[in-house]
Amino acid sequence: MAMHRVALHGRHLLASSRLLRRHMSMEPQAAVTRLKESGLLKTQGLVGGKWIDSYDGKTIEVTNPATGDVLANVACMSGQETSDAISSAYNSFSSWSKLTASERSKFLRNWYDLIISHKEDLALLITLEQGKPLKEALGEVTYGANFIEFFAEEAKRIYGDIIPSTLADRRLLVLKQPVGVVGAITPWNFPLAMITRKVGPALASGCTVVVKPSEYTPLTALAAADLALQAGIPPGALNVVMGNASGIGDTLLQSSQVRKITFTGSTAVGKKLMAGSANTVKKLSLELGGNAPCIVFDDADIDVAVKGSLAAKFRNSGQTCVCANRILVQEGIYEKFANAFAKAVQNMQVGNGLAEGISQGPLINEAALTKVEKFINDATSKGANIILGGKRHSLGMTFYEPTVLGNVNNKMLIAREEVFGPVAPLLPFKTEEDAIHIANDTNAGLAAYIFTTSIPRSWRVSEALEYGLVGVNEGLISTEVAPFGGVKQSGLGREGSKYGIDEFLELKYVCMGNMKEA
Ligand code: SIN
Repeated sequence: MAMHRVALHGRHLLASSRLLRRHMSMEPQAAVTRLKESGLLKTQGLVGGKWIDSYDGKTIEVTNPATGDVLANVACMSGQETSDAISSAYNSFSSWSKLTASERSKFLRNWYDLIISHKEDLALLITLEQGKPLKEALGEVTYGANFIEFFAEEAKRIYGDIIPSTLADRRLLVLKQPVGVVGAITPWNFPLAMITRKVGPALASGCTVVVKPSEYTPLTALAAADLALQAGIPPGALNVVMGNASGIGDTLLQSSQVRKITFTGSTAVGKKLMAGSANTVKKLSLELGGNAPCIVFDDADIDVAVKGSLAAKFRNSGQTCVCANRILVQEGIYEKFANAFAKAVQNMQVGNGLAEGISQGPLINEAALTKVEKFINDATSKGANIILGGKRHSLGMTFYEPTVLGNVNNKMLIAREEVFGPVAPLLPFKTEEDAIHIANDTNAGLAAYIFTTSIPRSWRVSEALEYGLVGVNEGLISTEVAPFGGVKQSGLGREGSKYGIDEFLELKYVCMGNMKEA
């Protein structure tokens, strides 16, 4: 089944899809019917509490990247539906924001409970439309739900301040108030968690939201929105429109009723959103691309370093913004680490995420695969060597062999830009100073990882790294309780944690004057 040049549409895809289904004993769409609550399979957008088709009747296919099967045809919406979603969010803002914090908190808690009680269904949808292994998808559902639970609690802790006054007859107060209508634009790599990480604090603070999920993964978003309705979150507080990315995005940007854009995705799109927000001076949170260094020092515990870098590199088949993009290995441990790491990579099972024991699913689409190939060709043409993998997987479709490259340097394309695929480039280095220099020699600054047994070094290097997140002897560090976000061109603002809610709040200074006794 050599599928070295599979086209995304057309005969090649159908042929490979049939072969793959035979190989995995799966029928088209059969998997979707495995949902325990079939009503969670929604194909319409959610506007003002109503499920609606696109106004021109257009639909888009949602396909399974592991098989090519069409999972559903969903409404392909654009500007007009988005305008109506904005109006409905705007109209429901005054009632939602006036609820007490504890009332909003209860709605969010109900939503959390429903997400958890439907976690198998949500995980199935994630695996089907995004491709990640079912176990990893279940992990995403818990991770995603935790943002709702955390912000349900934080809703009650939006404290203001009383500032000691400079004049005896004045009282100076600071109130925190919701910014208003939020446009949340979310990516395909975490179809649930990137929505809950934004919508949780938005709703908790009293904002209302229009979500635009990726056109590759709307089914999870729509199922989550349905659970929000079941949880009693009032019509209009949460709206979902999907389809034409530029039509929806431009409408969100141009509307003066939308007061904030929160986005996770590429740096290129983030810059466009930033420019597009200027005209109406919107508040912005941008979680953009990374170029994460993972630095393995000579003094590292090799088992911890292999396990940690494997996790940091191959989560979601390398398709996360915090995935290790460059594994910097000190010369003294290079051979030992490369051998142990390649052995661990070789043991990973590639396949349809619904099958048992799979840890690496397909890439999201053909373009992702072509990018991986381009980066590998560039690296090998400039002196890198393939230690393992380095080609499309014999399963066809968008499966790629987990790959380890040796002798990479920081000038190669693979070290300059996010590969967003299952390729681990190893870059040898000599000294701690060299490692810090190489790690910081990029415009990105999201996540970095270091492996060392030296406590002074772990402090020194963590402080020197120009990154928003640093994992020390850990490859998986994301959690709802800690701030997530980048520096430099990796973005603006923080998500999750007690800081995450500030992104959805405005400070209002109130000066009460003439406070003299009558
Ligand atoms: C991302 O890739 O954008 C998010 C990763 C995470 O939350 O850990």
